Amino acid sequence: MNKVVTMILVGAGNRGRGVFGQYALDMPHRAKYVAVVEPDEKKRNTFAQEHGIPASMRFEKPGVFFAKTDRVADAIVIATPETERLGTVLGAIDKGYHILVEKPLGCSLDETIKIIDAAKKFEGIFVVCHQMRHISGYSVIKSLIDSGRFGDIITIQHSENLSYHHMAHSYVRGLFNNDSMTPMILAKSCHDMDILCYLIGKRPVRVSSFGSLTYFKEQNAPKGAPAYCLDGCPAYKDCPYSVLKIYFNEDTDPACIRQMGIVKNKRELFELLRHNQFGRCVFRCDNNVVDHQVVNIEFEDGVTASFQMAGHNYFDRRITKISMTNGEIYFDLTEGLVKAYTFSPLSEEIIKPQGMTGSHMGGDKIIMDAFVDAVRTGEKSYILTPVEMSLDSHLMAFAAEQSRTQGRVIEL
Ligand SMILES: NC(=O)c1ccc[n+]([C@@H]2O[C@H](COP(=O)([O-])OP(=O)(O)OC[C@H]3O[C@@H](n4cnc5c(N)ncnc54)[C@H](O)[C@@H]3O)[C@@H](O)[C@H]2O)c1
Repeated sequence: MNKVVTMILVGAGNRGRGVFGQYALDMPHRAKYVAVVEPDEKKRNTFAQEHGIPASMRFEKPGVFFAKTDRVADAIVIATPETERLGTVLGAIDKGYHILVEKPLGCSLDETIKIIDAAKKFEGIFVVCHQMRHISGYSVIKSLIDSGRFGDIITIQHSENLSYHHMAHSYVRGLFNNDSMTPMILAKSCHDMDILCYLIGKRPVRVSSFGSLTYFKEQNAPKGAPAYCLDGCPAYKDCPYSVLKIYFNEDTDPACIRQMGIVKNKRELFELLRHNQFGRCVFRCDNNVVDHQVVNIEFEDGVTASFQMAGHNYFDRRITKISMTNGEIYFDLTEGLVKAYTFSPLSEEIIKPQGMTGSHMGGDKIIMDAFVDAVRTGEKSYILTPVEMSLDSHLMAFAAEQSRTQGRVIEL
């Protein structure tokens, strides 16, 4: 019989409870949480109750957890904010837990390198949650590239197009709105840097970037707009960012609500939005991260890639177009179709990858499946995102930010 992998969750917020916790509730024959570390009492106890974790295995801080326990499970899932990564990862390595950690690995290049260096001496499974590599659409593209039918990659055009309300929630009002923690290109787009490295399969050499915060600024606030949307804003009928339009829809992303804490109903949500950070006027926040950025990357052997992050779009979609010596591959993640063409013989193919449903187009479940299988069997080949493969994506993101702010090309 296959073993149930026992786990500890560190950080029972949106990702921790809603994605990694939900996995064990959906797949009790594969994974079980036996301890939780979370400073917020309500979140800690909610998670513990959902997973049947006794009071003795609920902790407020990772330091206390590591000091008070020996190795109590097979694996640890780290879903804290990135500010809390380094100590938690080092503690987990020290205790010998298999590790799944959220991206990005750290808030600075120094932290990232410390983690990757520490991981070199670690023999367990160590996965970074770059789940895009596991989305079946990208797996199809990777196998088309590897088939050799399309020749060699010359260049890739890739973009991450955020819907206007996703941009506002996460990067204007929300948790990732200020580069005192992480720049946008790291917080959001280390996924994109990672997928470029994965598809191209070569190392990056040089990076340049431009971008700025253009729109979400006080000077663009409607006349008379108060600090909070619900404080009688005169513009709420016309403003697309009104909290009433964003947070009370059938298709409002539950991840947005989970980032506000444990919210039981719409009445509670309404009360929270009167004064929490997500209820603020989008033109009157403490945000400073860009709302648009372009990055150019040169890889080994002269392969190039251009990346664009744009925060003003009707809906979320990543688009990837790969130009190769004998063909072209095009993929719109939201449309869910891979379109592949070869020049010789002339051919056109449209592929509908299977399983692109659920959070992050199925990537979250598949990466957890891969992690659990790797821990169960000790077989590292399940893992597409081992920690050492995150070095280049993080280097590219930090270099892009350096280029953008210093106005120069950065050699890696
Ligand atoms: N892979 C992805 O696609 C993806 C998507 C969204 C967020 N993320 C990343 O996941 C991480 C968590 O994001 P989130 O949206 O869940 O945020 P969140 O704020 O909802 O969850 C973080 C949780 O960690 C807790 N926490 C804070 N300090 C802690 C500590 N020292 N020890 C234990 N817990 C602590 C917070 O109280 C909170 O409950 C971030 O690093 C974010 O960048 C990844």
